Amino acid sequence: MNKTKIAVFASGTGSNYDALVAAIQSGALSCEIVLLVSDKPTAKVVDKAKQNSIPCFVFDPKQYDQKADFEAEIVEQLSQMEAEWIVLAGYMRLIGSTLLQPYEGKILNIHPSLLPAFPGLDAIGQAFKAGVKITGVTIHIVDEGMDTGKILAQEAVTVNPEMTESELQTKIQSIEHKLYPQTIQQIIKQKK
Ligand code: GRF
Repeated sequence: MNKTKIAVFASGTGSNYDALVAAIQSGALSCEIVLLVSDKPTAKVVDKAKQNSIPCFVFDPKQYDQKADFEAEIVEQLSQMEAEWIVLAGYMRLIGSTLLQPYEGKILNIHPSLLPAFPGLDAIGQAFKAGVKITGVTIHIVDEGMDTGKILAQEAVTVNPEMTESELQTKIQSIEHKLYPQTIQQIIKQKK
């Protein structure tokens, strides 16, 4: 079967990027990462992608007047690389209509909480401070809202009373690294 061409958008350490690369290498995920998009030139994930010889489009949003301008450049890059899906893995920006329209229903995001609880920034910290006993991971289709699109998969994580916030983060991320490749594989197979 032909490999599905995906673009990964990331601006952090890239642990989810690593998990996607590992799943592709093992054959569990029948995709090819054709582009890494990052809005943080200094992000660790950019170095990782360069080491893997994955084409990168790295930009500084401050150099643009408005979101539509950098999103237009992203769309151009995506079309050059023939990307079919966009996988957000720590890209901390709302997607605007310039990018959403051509990729409607084809943009996925992973969020470290059981949405609709704790949307937005620092979801793990929000859940920890709220003292919830259960939180988790959500994978959803991206729409114009903040973490509001159709939910595709969720997995719960129990918060033990003696757990620190950083232990909770480790536990959540280990779930993310399994659930994201599995869910991507399922959705791309359905929509082929
Ligand atoms: C992940 O926790 C993901 O849920 C959120 O951003 C974080 C990215 O982490 N959207 P990493 O860079 O993949 O380690």
